[in-house]
Amino acid sequence: MKILIVNGPNLNLLGRREPNIYGNRSFETFFDELQADFPGIELEYFQSNHEGALLDKLHDAGFMVNGIVLNAGAFTHSSIALSDAVAAITAPVVEVHISNVHRREAFRQHSFLAAQCVGSIIGLGLEGYRLAVRYLISIAAAPPDKSSPPN
Ligand code: DQA
Repeated sequence: MKILIVNGPNLNLLGRREPNIYGNRSFETFFDELQADFPGIELEYFQSNHEGALLDKLHDAGFMVNGIVLNAGAFTHSSIALSDAVAAITAPVVEVHISNVHRREAFRQHSFLAAQCVGSIIGLGLEGYRLAVRYLISIAAAPPDKSSPPN
């Protein structure tokens, strides 16, 4: 079983970037802890500041892995291309945001990705990634059919 975690722009700065909003832990430190929490599950972490690199990664992994946790950072609010990529791939995708975007600027309150994802976890800090991984493992045996409307 393999789960991919994808972080978008500026999330390489976690721990140093606006710690009042995003906390003071680097993702690398958290990822070590996450791997220890899910022995037997192959977890891969990918981060890029480049929209095209994120698209390529989704294309490469999105037909092979059991699930994807995606925090596209600011591209969430701007990228129709990433939205199309999430729709195109077969792996279920959970959208994660560390901060509660609904308590922030209005432009953060629209996600181009949300409608293509199985669900979103917002505002629970890094814990959101852990919950998303747990959920994706729980549905791996019978992932939702992305081509049929939700019931
Ligand atoms: C973020 C929220 C986005 O609005 C912002 O651009 C980010 C991080 C979050 O995890 O809270 O870069 O996705």
